[in-house]
Amino acid sequence: MRDDLILIASADRNWGLGKDNNLLIRIPEDLKRFAELTRGNVIIVGRKTLETFKDKKPLPERINIVLTRDKNYTCEGAVIVHSIEEMFNAIKGFDKKVYVCGGETIYKQLLPYCNLALITQIDGEYEADTHLVNLDEKSDWKRTVTGEWQESHAGVWFRYVEYVKSDNGE
Ligand SMILES: NC(=O)c1ccc[n+]([C@@H]2O[C@H](COP(=O)([O-])OP(=O)(O)OC[C@H]3O[C@@H](n4cnc5c(N)ncnc54)[C@H](OP(=O)(O)O)[C@@H]3O)[C@@H](O)[C@H]2O)c1
Repeated sequence: MRDDLILIASADRNWGLGKDNNLLIRIPEDLKRFAELTRGNVIIVGRKTLETFKDKKPLPERINIVLTRDKNYTCEGAVIVHSIEEMFNAIKGFDKKVYVCGGETIYKQLLPYCNLALITQIDGEYEADTHLVNLDEKSDWKRTVTGEWQESHAGVWFRYVEYVKSDNGE
C-alpha cells in the first residue's frame, strides 16, 4: 500500500471541516489553490463530499476516486470503490500524486497512509458537524510550514500550514 498520500483540507480554529454537508466557508483563493495543486493528479473523496461538488459531478481534469459502500452507486467520470482496500488497488496504476480530500470519515481512515498534510487554517470558530483530528496534538506529525495570515476576498483571514509525518514519532 502507498504511504505517500497527501491530505489537503481547510479547517477552522477547532479543526472543524463542514456543516450540513457544506464547507464552513468558501475561500476563493484557497479553492483556486486546491484546484491548481490537484489538477492532473488523483483525488480521493467520500460519497458525501462528492455530493457537495457542483452538480454532484467529479472535478474535471483529475482522476476522482469516490468511496461508497453502495454497490449500485454510479457517477459518470468517477472511479467508484467500495472499500479502502479497493481504493488502494485503484491507485496502484497511477504514477501521480494522490490527494486525500475528505470528508471527515475519509481523512480519519486515510491519515495513517499520508505523509504530508496541507491545511488551510481559517481564523474563526464556526459551528461544525465534521472535524479533522488536531494534528498539533499528534506526536507522529510535525508542523513544518506556517504561512502568514492573509485576508480573503470572502472577508475572513486564513493561512497555509503544512505538517509532515515523522517516522520516529518524535
Ligand atoms: N474543509 C474541508 O477541507 C473539507 C473537505 C472535504 C469535505 N468537507 C466537508 O466534510 C463533510 C462531509 O464529511 P463526512 O465525513 O460527513 O462524509 P464523507 O467522508 O465525505 O463521506 C462519507 C461516505 O463515504 C463512504 N465511505 C466512508 N468510508 C468508506 C469505506 N471504508 N468504504 C466505502 N465507503 C466509505 C460512505 O458512503 P455511503 O454512505 O455512500 O456508503 C460514507 O457515508 C461536508 O460538510 C463537507 O463539506 C470539508
